Amino acid sequence: MPVQYILAFESSCDDTSVAIVDTDYNVIVNLISSQPEHLEFGGILPELASRLHLKNIVTLTKAALNASKLNLQDISAIAVSINPGLIGSLIVGLAFAKGLAWSLSLPLITVNHILSHIFANFIEHKAVEPPFLALVVSGGHTELVHFDTLTTFTVVGKTLDDAAGESFDKAAKLLGLGFPGGPAIDELAQKGNPNFIKFPRALPQKNNFNFSYSGLKTAIRTWLVNQNPETLQAELPDIAASVQQAIIDPLVHKTVLWARQHKIPYILLAGGVAANSALRQQLTTTSAKYGIKVFYPSNALCMDNAAMVGAAAIPKFLTKNYAPLSINVSSLKGT
Ligand code: KG4
Ligand code: ZN
Repeated sequence: MPVQYILAFESSCDDTSVAIVDTDYNVIVNLISSQPEHLEFGGILPELASRLHLKNIVTLTKAALNASKLNLQDISAIAVSINPGLIGSLIVGLAFAKGLAWSLSLPLITVNHILSHIFANFIEHKAVEPPFLALVVSGGHTELVHFDTLTTFTVVGKTLDDAAGESFDKAAKLLGLGFPGGPAIDELAQKGNPNFIKFPRALPQKNNFNFSYSGLKTAIRTWLVNQNPETLQAELPDIAASVQQAIIDPLVHKTVLWARQHKIPYILLAGGVAANSALRQQLTTTSAKYGIKVFYPSNALCMDNAAMVGAAAIPKFLTKNYAPLSINVSSLKGT
């Protein structure tokens, strides 16, 4: 069968993205318009995010089509993420995707945002096949998902409170490192000692595959209260490395343990925190001891983008698993 093209949209949080992928998981174009307007608030303002999606989505779609050298007539399906995420932001993407699907008489394919992060892996690692275990770590989600096939999976662990990326961001805020904090902590930590402070690791019980990060935030705040602000600046790399290690340890330990217990040969890392250099390195090294291979997308594909939405739509497109135009968005967390 000749390849077909899917036009995909992502607008679940603060990035508007439009992509075209083909049914062999090749990316023809993947444009992202982020929203620096939130920076001055130290977090994302949902109302502002939806208004900016509305402002950007038409221009970005035209730019994506131009860059792809394809026409709307070359497109075989429209894909869009519909959950989880900020409700107003999701509505902009879905309404636009529905309008296009209806006016062009094309099938509409709706995708779970967390699942799409996992599918970003297939764009660059086409040979990976189920069974595999996915660790999705982003600003809003921390989930361990066991896949028996590409479409049958079970969430075997998740965070009970803060997500891993949220934990990086909150720690960075406490340390005065700006938002989002993950990249800043990652960079500082490369020059620091991860054993400088022993922050708590939550839920250490052997067969508990859930995560919890709210205690870490409190521990950092309590530790900071007793510090001398004059020495703090010089210690920042050590503090960053210690915080990062406290976030990473449970992720690596629980992911590898589940994979070993269930004889899973592949681990797919996904989501914004999958860009973390220490997490990539430690998960890869620990897994290798047990013959387990780890894959992760390149940095650009770890972040929110529409190419991953297009990739996650491929199995649904090939099996004609289309959505009705009456479908709605949902902010409910989970895969
Ligand atoms: O997947 P993503 O773009 O958006 C969500 O769906 O949440 O992830 C954004 C998250 C932020 O919390 C950011 O701090 C984190 O990913 N992040 C990192 C790194 N790069 C981005 N965390 C740790 N190390 C990094 N290098
Ligand atoms: Zn995301």
